[in-house]
Amino acid sequence: MITTKHQAALDQANHEIEKQKDWIKQSPYRLNYHFMAPTGWINDPNGFVQYNGEYQLFYQYYPYDSKWGPMHWGHAKSRDLVHWEHLPVALAPSEPYDSGDVQGYGCFSGSAVVDGNDLVLIYTGHVDGNSPMQVQCIATSKDGVSFEKYEQNPVIAQFPVDGSPDFRDPKVWKHEDKWYMVVGTKKDGKGKAVLYVSKDLKNWEYKGVTAESDGTQGDMWECPDLFPINDTHVLIVSPMYGTQNEKPFYVVGDMDYDQGIFTQKSYKTLDYGFDFYAPQTLIDEKGRRIMIGWMEKWLTKMPSQEHGWAGAMTIPRELVIESGNILKQKPMDELKTLRTDYYNLSNFEVTDLRVISNSYEPVSETIIDVNVKETDASVFGIQLRCSQDGKEKTEILLDLDKKEIVMDREYSGIGEKGISKAPLVEKDGKINLRIFMDTTSVEVFINDGEQVITNRIFPDAQSTQFNVFSKGGKAQIDRFETWKLQSAWN
Ligand code: FRU
Repeated sequence: MITTKHQAALDQANHEIEKQKDWIKQSPYRLNYHFMAPTGWINDPNGFVQYNGEYQLFYQYYPYDSKWGPMHWGHAKSRDLVHWEHLPVALAPSEPYDSGDVQGYGCFSGSAVVDGNDLVLIYTGHVDGNSPMQVQCIATSKDGVSFEKYEQNPVIAQFPVDGSPDFRDPKVWKHEDKWYMVVGTKKDGKGKAVLYVSKDLKNWEYKGVTAESDGTQGDMWECPDLFPINDTHVLIVSPMYGTQNEKPFYVVGDMDYDQGIFTQKSYKTLDYGFDFYAPQTLIDEKGRRIMIGWMEKWLTKMPSQEHGWAGAMTIPRELVIESGNILKQKPMDELKTLRTDYYNLSNFEVTDLRVISNSYEPVSETIIDVNVKETDASVFGIQLRCSQDGKEKTEILLDLDKKEIVMDREYSGIGEKGISKAPLVEKDGKINLRIFMDTTSVEVFINDGEQVITNRIFPDAQSTQFNVFSKGGKAQIDRFETWKLQSAWN
């Protein structure tokens, strides 16, 4: 039975969405093929899982305003990770362990698993002023739509000796015949992921710290995700340094389930952009490890707030390790179904500025291969979403001297500014770029997804020029292909 209080909170939230959703659809900043909530504020993806063949995406949600508030879990499903159907809100604050009268409270981030026929959500109940402030809870559904909070919640009522009151974002997975849960916490200046084990998702035994910061990896770990891939394991962490949220990183390492210890072998930034945080992964029925992230971040300028909404998800990315300890992110193949209006240029040299088009499709995918062996320029650049007078633009620069790839959004429009940088590594004499542009976002996948830069930009709708240029010599472009992408929302 869903408690009356929970049902009332859900009804109120769903009612609010109905009231707001039509005017919010009209916002010019709405994206065309990225996941967004129908109204209000979203942050982290939660409970990303496949259930009865359909992908389920839950998310941190405040349906009443375009800024963060008491956290609900929004819910949507999809057959292909591209077209989403919004479902009623899954969780709303309603109980003493996830609700309060003042300040911050709510159903914080977590994950989902399929247990027999049930879809089970595992989340953090957060109430400012409660002691402890954060506890782990579960909620179960038999139909994948309505969720009943477990009457004996919380299932973990106290943070462990190795942790502190910041104890949140449970990620659960099955290994052999047991459930494992990592939770993010902090102690003694170090971010940590602590591990629990259970046979039934209700009774959890504490195993210890499975991984922690080496001293440079943050003093609080949010949204840890630990999963097997090939014959190794990967840990993804969204770290905090003091009150500052920093770029999520991934660690490749070995997991010892008996000892409960994950040994770090190598670690790297997951996405070099500003607008990527709290990613979560699932494994689907085809055996693919798929990640989606919040395509925004805390404390940033969000022009869409004026239009009643804020936050979106990145495109779904398949994670693979093909060699060494490099995790590649590949845009899901399903996204190719959106391709239309193909356009390509045969190989060409860039010696100065070349206008590719004055009215380049802003909602598009573009693939560019730079032949480094036949390039003597020090910089090859791309200018997208450019105004005719050249004042507004977003630049992607391959700096071959500094061995850096840069996304510069100092002149991108009314959004947040800033320059993102990633190391530039050439592969077999070339650098491959795959650029996904949407109305207010740019995701650049470099060398088949070895590095990614994700940023939101808010240019004028008229800024549609696309240029390429080189500095200090010529750049040889072996491939230039582009598609307009159809809208995934109707
Ligand atoms: C990460 C985070 C989580 C928390 C949630 C609250 O962005 O801070 O740690 O559960 O957001 O909305």
